[in-house]
Amino acid sequence: MTGSDKKRFYVTTPIYYVNDKPHIGHAYTTLACDVLARFKRLDGFEVMFLTGTDEHGQKVEKAATDKGVTPQAFTDSVSQNFRDLTSRMNFSNDDFIRTTEARHRAACQKLWSILLERGHITLGSYAGWYAVRDEAFYTETEIVDGKAPTGAPVEWVEEPSYFFNLSQWQEPLLEFYEANPDFVGPASRFNEVKSFVSGGLRDLSVSRASFSWGVPVPDDDAHVMYVWLDALTNYLTATGWPVDGDFGDKDRNERFWPADLHMVGKDILRFHAVYWPAFLMAAGLPLPKRVFAHGWWTNEGEKISKSLGNVIDPNLLAEEFGLDQTRYFLMREVPFGNDGDFSRRAMIHRMNGDLANDLGNLSQRVLSMIFKNCSGVMPALPATAAPEDSALLDAADAMLGKVRAHMDLQSFHEALRCIWEVVSDANKYVDTTAPWGLKKTDPVRMGEVLAVLAETIRQAAILVQPVMPGSASKILDQLGVADDQRGFDMLAGAGRIAAGVEISKPEPVFPRFVEEEGEV
Ligand code: MSP
Repeated sequence: MTGSDKKRFYVTTPIYYVNDKPHIGHAYTTLACDVLARFKRLDGFEVMFLTGTDEHGQKVEKAATDKGVTPQAFTDSVSQNFRDLTSRMNFSNDDFIRTTEARHRAACQKLWSILLERGHITLGSYAGWYAVRDEAFYTETEIVDGKAPTGAPVEWVEEPSYFFNLSQWQEPLLEFYEANPDFVGPASRFNEVKSFVSGGLRDLSVSRASFSWGVPVPDDDAHVMYVWLDALTNYLTATGWPVDGDFGDKDRNERFWPADLHMVGKDILRFHAVYWPAFLMAAGLPLPKRVFAHGWWTNEGEKISKSLGNVIDPNLLAEEFGLDQTRYFLMREVPFGNDGDFSRRAMIHRMNGDLANDLGNLSQRVLSMIFKNCSGVMPALPATAAPEDSALLDAADAMLGKVRAHMDLQSFHEALRCIWEVVSDANKYVDTTAPWGLKKTDPVRMGEVLAVLAETIRQAAILVQPVMPGSASKILDQLGVADDQRGFDMLAGAGRIAAGVEISKPEPVFPRFVEEEGEV
């Protein structure tokens, strides 16, 4: 496919508050998007993958004041930490947006003007509870023991405020949900969204007048926009919207809006599945196709929090266990959408089991045998496959279809499970065919068996590229697969391992983790 008929995929992470250092929760959301973005690119899509930082609002202003620096200087430095994380975790984002950029201010102000012109924003006054930590308003009935339902401290706020007529969007939202049954995943979370909206919506305060660190409301400098209206708009800004503005990009906007997927944590689903579609409907703009809410990580069974001092730094995980091992663990260990617990024991178990023993050992054994017993030249596949060869090759060819279906539902753990099923079949095939014993008795058959195995490893390695780009590429290098032969168009029988290619002495790709005495 070329030009305008190319398949496209636009995926976004939430933009991260810059009040703090990046931690495992942030890395997790972006990793999931990175895996999807890489997957879609390999599957022939033109991809736009966006991440960035959410830099306005009271929370960030307060963090800057506490540090005794200006909000701009503070956000410049913390935003850089998030940018650094993207390179350290090997994230392949195409853009990194900061809400303090001029392009974003222009988009927010344009969206505001449209909503105002269409009569959806009016001036009033707000009196109620506000939680700075959540940057969210709460009603009296939601307050539990003097706190927000999330446990965040609340303060009483009374100030002039612009309101968005969210109450008018209850029916249109419910109709939209009905017509788009895949709009929110997982399904259980979609039900929560629907019941929240069915319970009635109140107009939403969309400006603040008691501080100034935000996007100024057009023609009313006394107000800055509510940080969530500002933040959500980033998804549009990055597509070059408004297309006729100073930063407009008509072509990009047409190619990528509406977004295919907003990936979010469960705590911020309401903003994405209720407020954001309502703003867009009110502005007459197309709605995103899907929002997926993933679960939260705990650390050795405990809620992660700064006060408990158990925040997990993704950089340290990658340093200790390896980057790809960390990426694999996060995507494999917990059914995506559920909450999950990080434990060293589980991390080491996956690293040594799935990676070192299963895939690592398979590829090291097969490549070493080819190197030693076939003079380092890739043998040919059998002209007529034996039943056990066909069974393994068929399973390898069937992987792409299964993995793709799971990826389209953001079931990363299932996608990986499908690949590891075939890795396990391949390990059994090694045991039953015992190629080492064929060297003397039937070297031709030995070559065929090794080629069937190399072909299976080739397909598995191509499919794990999105999750473990570095390690997969080492395996593919060792198999002699050319760089331009690693797309998904080379899977499912469309490509085969090339016989006659010389391979070099294989090196293990997945080391075992040996815990220091007494640590586990
Ligand atoms: N700035 C808003 C998002 C605006 S999007 C238009 C925000 N930022 S955040 O930095 O607080 O959180 C970003 C993401 O990190 C959320 O998706 C949240 O769910 C995720 N996580 C934060 N802690 C987490 C865990 N312990 N586990 C998994 N994800 C968690 O919200």
